Amino acid sequence: MKPEILLLEPMLPEVETELEIAYKVYRPFPHMDPADSLPTAAPRIRAIITGGGIGASNRLIDALPALEIIAINGVGTDAVDLQHASDRGIRVTTTPDVLTDDVADMAIGLMLAVARRICAGDRFVRDGRWPRGHATLGRTVSHKRLGIVGLGRVGRAIAQRAEGFRMTIAYADPAPQDGVPYRHYPQLTDLARESDFLVIAAAGGPASRGIVNAAVFEALGPDGVLVNVARGSVVDEPALVAALTEGRIAGAGLDVFAHEPNVPEALWTLENVVLTPHQSSATVETRRAMADLVLRNVAAKLAGNEPPTAVV
Ligand code: 8YV
Repeated sequence: MKPEILLLEPMLPEVETELEIAYKVYRPFPHMDPADSLPTAAPRIRAIITGGGIGASNRLIDALPALEIIAINGVGTDAVDLQHASDRGIRVTTTPDVLTDDVADMAIGLMLAVARRICAGDRFVRDGRWPRGHATLGRTVSHKRLGIVGLGRVGRAIAQRAEGFRMTIAYADPAPQDGVPYRHYPQLTDLARESDFLVIAAAGGPASRGIVNAAVFEALGPDGVLVNVARGSVVDEPALVAALTEGRIAGAGLDVFAHEPNVPEALWTLENVVLTPHQSSATVETRRAMADLVLRNVAAKLAGNEPPTAVV
């Protein structure tokens, strides 16, 4: 009998084939709480493979008495209660490093897309408006001030790219980081006040919940642009919608949202906003590399060995 596992989000087709060869794979119904659509095999399930945003609820964990590992196909652990998993003796693994470059690329892409009105320009051409008028001017990115919220692996990779744009780089983090030439701001509002572009690269979870709020938008000001490639939970989303619709910030590039896959409808029609469906690590190359780590972690644990990239 092959080990039985629960797959909570789609992976590359060839990866799913590899999983099917090694395991009996169960897929709960999409867009339903997996704890509400468990197979009768639930008592025998030994592994969960899930996304960073989806995680695994304690209700789901508690419904799986044979669970040994939660393999997150991502780096965010905010949707898994690590303490609860560890109390149950369940290992939790992530996919560090392999997605850093793609996520940083996406942050830069969103910043450019908003400031240079790339998506708005695309709509202008496709709608046949070009022969009848002129597109609205964008704003320069090069040489501007970039504020990074959270200077972890992704934050640093964003900073490296921004150096190529000759931007002035600063960051907010609870403590200053050793060995970086960028100015540190303990207070987010102070960073926002000194930034033209504010990019969120901080981990989700209770410590960062809602820290990018109305006061931060006020400090960023009517020419400032927000980019989020981290977690929707870091932003006070109703305050963001208000700031954008009332023109209190200039625009936003958003890959993540508070209640995915639901995005506030007020944002859909705003010209100064670029919206992507949580795609920062969604390239064929990176998803393959992430899957390789997931497969190695699950195989190791189910064979009684140490998973290579465990966080607990
Ligand atoms: C992925 C993520 O899109 O790394 C994370 O925490 O949220 C993203 O890289 C996700 O894990 C796949 O669902």
